Formats: sequence, structure tokens, C-alpha cells
Amino acid sequence: MLQNKKIIVGVTGGIAAYKTAYIVRELVKKGAEVKVLMTEKAKEFITPLTLATLSKNPVCVDFFDPTNGAWNSHVSLGLWADAFLIAPATANTLAKMANGVADNLLLTTYLSAKCPIFVAPAMDLDMFKHSATQHNLGLLRKNNCHIIEPTSGELASGLDGKGRMEEPSKIVEFLENTLNKQPLKGKKILITAGPTYEKIDPVRFIGNYSSGKMGFAIAEKCAEAGAKVILVTGPVSLKIQNPNIQRIDIESAKEMNEVSCKIFAECDGAILSAAVADFSPKIFENEKIKKKGEMTLELQQTPDIAENLGKSKNEKQFLVGFALETNDEENNAQQKLKRKNFDFIVLNSMREENTCFGVDTNKINIIHKNGEIKNFTLKTKTEVAQDIVDEIVSLQQK
Ligand code: C5P
Repeated sequence: MLQNKKIIVGVTGGIAAYKTAYIVRELVKKGAEVKVLMTEKAKEFITPLTLATLSKNPVCVDFFDPTNGAWNSHVSLGLWADAFLIAPATANTLAKMANGVADNLLLTTYLSAKCPIFVAPAMDLDMFKHSATQHNLGLLRKNNCHIIEPTSGELASGLDGKGRMEEPSKIVEFLENTLNKQPLKGKKILITAGPTYEKIDPVRFIGNYSSGKMGFAIAEKCAEAGAKVILVTGPVSLKIQNPNIQRIDIESAKEMNEVSCKIFAECDGAILSAAVADFSPKIFENEKIKKKGEMTLELQQTPDIAENLGKSKNEKQFLVGFALETNDEENNAQQKLKRKNFDFIVLNSMREENTCFGVDTNKINIIHKNGEIKNFTLKTKTEVAQDIVDEIVSLQQK
């Protein structure tokens, strides 16, 4: 099913470009919204008019429209797409993509795209076999590109070997299967996110710097993987995108605990990324507290949601927690993992730069209850969320 999927088709200058017309037609037939990007050289092999007619959208080649100067924004194109397919991908474009060269609209869009990338190489057998091309393909795989392997057979040069672009119907099928892979379909997952606010008086509270970005990214990735998500969040300024996410806004740890305990019973698992306050004022003052020199605020411990869920968890449910430590990170995380009955704990250290509160990146280690530890590099929170979802999927398959 590609109904309503937004797909960019990038065409580069190879003879297989004539087959891209069939790909575009097939995608449109399946209900996708298609926009075509071409390199200058691709225009020598197939006309923009053909692809504009089939895609029902103007084809973009330049950074701007030479007739009226209208700007073709690679950033908004990259953000618009649910998938970006480059077919055919020449050795030249593969090399540029692998090395971050950005000298045409197709390449700048590739660098801006946040969606899955699909690459269907097409070239002569020796070019494909060459170690430079293979090295570049390796780099693209590392950058999470899906490579649709060329097939073997007669090539335009008259030679016979591996380098023919995969058939259009097979390329479309590959896209369809990959985009519709929903390993968490049928699962209901509780996610806690953001900070909690513990009221002192009508205008003041105890809070923390959590932005909710990590939890929201996890919610989006779980929903993308097919899960029904219930996101219980403290006060944050973020918005959710996916209709499969039900958002419940709470303010205090007590409220988060009440809602989460109720919901967890009907869930297949929970991911607790909220930065829950550990203490709340013992007394809530109905009137704003007046300045009175020194003052003491009496605090009480808030409910530990993770511990409560850990106690009620059955063997079919999974529970994932977070640990944010400033010292003795691994040891503290291991203890939390046991005490709260987590299946695994995601450890982020405050010592690392560009991690944790507010920023868009994070660096995590995952510690499993069987002692297995996985160390990850610094990534965007969206990528980190995908790593966490992948970990949950493999847990489910065990
Ligand atoms: O004990 P600590 O707060 O460091 O534990 C962190 C983990 O426990 C996180 O997953 C957090 O969401 C969860 N937690 C909770 N309720 C609390 C405190 C922490 O669910 N009151």
C-alpha cells in the first residue's frame, strides 16, 4: 500500500532512466504522490515532460526555476517526503552521495531528507564491480540507505554482467515492503515523556530541564512501526504528528503515576523516558508565598512510576527505563535496571556533550537485564529512538 505516501523519485543520467517512467507510473497508480528530481544529464535520457506528465507534478532540475526565479527548496522537499528513491543511480551520483557532495538539487535534497532513502544503481559491470563503487555503496549502507541491488544480464554496452537496474515492478515492490514493514503492529505501548511540575503555590513549581524530545521521538518511531501509542507527557511545547499516538497531558508525578498505572494493565509494554521529579512539596500553598527572608520547603518523595509498573508487570509485558547519571553511570544504571524490573535500561550520561536535555542529539548505552551492553555513537534523537525501537522489536522476537 502506497496510498498517500509522498515519494521523491530522483533520476540521474543513465540509459536505465527510460525505465523510471514505469516506476513513476506504477507509484502514482498505487496512490502515491510523486515529485521527480532530475540531474542535468538525466534530461539527455528522458524528457522532463514525460516524467512531469506521469507524476502529475512539475519536474525539478535546478535550484530555482530559470523562467521565473522561483526557488526549489531542497530542505522542504526533503522534509516533505516519506521516501526518496534514486533510480537509476549512476556511479557518479553514488560517489557524490557517499561523500556529501552537494552540487545539484537531487544531492542537496538527499542531504536534507529525513525519510528512508532507496538507491537503485545502474551501470556497466566493471564500474559496478570497481572497489571505489563498492566502497561508496558500503558508505551509503552505513548511512541507512536501502540499496536495491542491480541484476545480471545484457547491458546497454553490449556486455553481459551485473549492473542492470532492477525491474521497475520489483523496485516498487521493494519500496512497498520496506515502507509497510510494521514490526510493532497490534502492540499497544505506553510512553512517558517530558518533565513533571510539582506545585509549590499557584505560581511556582519544582521542575527540570527535560524538553520531551526523546520521548516524543520514541512515540513517533513506535507509531511508525505500527504500534498504538499512549503518550503520557508532562508540560512540553512539542506537537505529535502520527494519528496512532494518543496524547495525555499531565502535570505532576502523582498524576503521571495514576494515569500510567491504569493504562499499563492494558498495554504490551512501556517505555519510561519521562524525567519524573523525585520530590514534591509536602504542602501546596493556596496563596502565593510572600517573601520572608530565609524559608524552608518541606519535600516528600513522589511515587516511583517505574517501580510500580515493574511490580505489576507480567511476563508478556516489556518495560524499558532511562537513566541519567552524573557519576558512576553504569553501576547506578545496573542497580536501577534490577530494582525497577526493566528489560533494558537506556543510559545517557550528563558528562557527554550534546546529549540529554533540550538538544536534538543523544548518545546512549543500552544495558539488558542479561548483562549485555550495547554502546551507540552520538546520533539525532530520531535515530536514537529508532535504535531503541529496534531493540524492543528484537526483544519481542526472542
Ligand atoms: O531513579 P531514576 O529517576 O533515576 O530512574 C529513572 C527511570 O525511572 C526513568 O525511566 C524514569 O522515567 C523512571 N522514573 C519513574 N518515576 C519516578 C522516577 C523515575 O518512572 N518517580
